[in-house]
Amino acid sequence: MTKTFLPYGRQFIDEDDIAAVTDVLRGDWLTTGPTVEAFEVAFAAKIGAKHAVACSSGTAGLHLLALAAGLGPGDVVIVPTVTFLATASAARYVGAEVVFADVDPETGLMGVSQFLEAAARAPAGAVKAVFPVHLNGHSVDMPALRQVAGALFIAEDACHALGGRHKAPSGTMVPVGSCSASDAAMFSTHSVKAIATGEGGVLVTNDTGFAARLGRFRNHGMVRDPALFQHPELAVEPGEDAAAPWYYEMHEPGYNYRLNDLQSALGLSQLRRLDDFVQQRRRFRDRYDRLLGPHVRPIQVAEGCEPAWHLSVVLIDFAALATTRSAVMRQLRDRGIGTQVHYIPVHKQPYYRNCKAPVLCTTF
Ligand SMILES: Cc1ncc(COP(=O)(O)O)c(C=O)c1O
Repeated sequence: MTKTFLPYGRQFIDEDDIAAVTDVLRGDWLTTGPTVEAFEVAFAAKIGAKHAVACSSGTAGLHLLALAAGLGPGDVVIVPTVTFLATASAARYVGAEVVFADVDPETGLMGVSQFLEAAARAPAGAVKAVFPVHLNGHSVDMPALRQVAGALFIAEDACHALGGRHKAPSGTMVPVGSCSASDAAMFSTHSVKAIATGEGGVLVTNDTGFAARLGRFRNHGMVRDPALFQHPELAVEPGEDAAAPWYYEMHEPGYNYRLNDLQSALGLSQLRRLDDFVQQRRRFRDRYDRLLGPHVRPIQVAEGCEPAWHLSVVLIDFAALATTRSAVMRQLRDRGIGTQVHYIPVHKQPYYRNCKAPVLCTTF
């Protein structure tokens, strides 16, 4: 083993990041304070979405999306099978069924044809949502998906794609997450992703009411807006004419999925360098493209997108090289280079194989 191990991804922390977190440590707020809101405002502005809702992880964010969209038992969500477990788990958390879609073998993305094929396997009328995944930092063709998905709820799993751009329905290139052809998008700020907050996630949407719902589910389902109170008479004390500042209601159970000020300070500081991080990843990728030899083929860049290159994926002809995936990974590891399989198709997981519900089982 060489001394320095190169993992497949890691954070890049500088002195500004450390100073930003230290400032919060010296202040009053360690939990949800003003830095969370500052991070959300900056994030939404950077992406070009109306609202950003920060949360404790990408997985929590996906769960919040499923909750706020009102998905539940009897509903079907279409999810590409090549993704991280969390994309499909979000549907299962709320009791919805998952129908897995195949992906394009060249890009790993779910295209329109794979979406339609999966939807055709679901019971008539049951499909309520689709969670397209911008795998590796590439983008699903969102305008085309919106066209065939009609009024279905579309939430982009953009965990890999912060800093990437793709085509909007207008034909112009826009940042991933501007939600020009979706209802919402979710980013992870786990430390291997484009920017790091340790663990963390950020949801974006242009729908003000939906953003408010996400915020409520993130924070125990607490309702503090007097306009929404179901018992406004309990909110107003005798002799007062406005709702009391201490009053809140709960209409649906929520979670504690909050990001804190320490994490948000790091996120805010990292966000300022997002463009540099993306450029650096593009330089690495260009280098791989130039240097990788025969039988090791970089995946195709999907049309209509400028990838953020969260992961640089290669397709290896193991037969031609008379080797196996594990042997290649072991040899790379012995030279100090970390690799990973992204991903084992989720429908192959025992949980889904063992599932008795008919729509969970897929034909591939
Ligand atoms: C495609 C995808 N979706 C969801 C997640 C979950 O994000 P988190 O690790 O922040 O919970 C990940 C994390 O790796 C991911 O790669």
